[in-house]
Amino acid sequence: MNDQKATNITWHDGDVTRDNRNQLLGQKGATIWFTGLSGSGKSTVAVALEQALFAQGRLVYRLDGDNVRHGINKNLGFSAEDRAENIRRIGEIAKLFVDSGVLALSSFVSPYRTDRDIVRKLHEDDGMDFIEIYVNVPLAVAEERDPKGLYKKARAGEIPNFTGISDPYEAPEKPELVLNSHEMSLEDEVIAVIDLLKQRGVLPA
Ligand code: ADX
Repeated sequence: MNDQKATNITWHDGDVTRDNRNQLLGQKGATIWFTGLSGSGKSTVAVALEQALFAQGRLVYRLDGDNVRHGINKNLGFSAEDRAENIRRIGEIAKLFVDSGVLALSSFVSPYRTDRDIVRKLHEDDGMDFIEIYVNVPLAVAEERDPKGLYKKARAGEIPNFTGISDPYEAPEKPELVLNSHEMSLEDEVIAVIDLLKQRGVLPA
């Protein structure tokens, strides 16, 4: 897909490299991408993971759906097209963090497989780790939790295109990790992610 509008632009590398920054920080940046239904526990695990990694001396930064939609993506709604643009921008932002040496923890519903795969490719084509974690709970569990009261509204027809109710969620086919958050403690979820990051060489073993 080449939808670049600007012409006559040239990429300009600086003299400080990604490797230089990684050395300075003593870590390697990576994107840890949580996907799942609203209410699945993505943000909860990202918050706990952020705290655990930070306590271990890692520089981490969390990008979260509801927050990002207050700022850079405030002009986007929930049509398939707007969600694609939401995820594309987040993917590019996550890449900037990775390039700067930071561990980017992203939690977005990101319901479309194609959108997530585009972000994966953006990372992998640039030699960056993209670690997809599927926070998997049955819809009934997310709906029962309903932390923001949105499922109730969606069932009442007050929110159109609500993921899981009136809009699809496409589960990842080959995520790096699945967290069944209704069957695990938060602590075990964090341990599982940290173990994976060690296996992948993102964190030292
Ligand atoms: S995404 O689909 O584009 O990845 P994103 O993660 O940014 O979504 O935002 C999802 C959050 O917005 C949900 O957690 C929920 O709080 C809120 N929300 C509001 N409307 C919808 C909707 N129609 N579908 C899903 N989530 C919605």
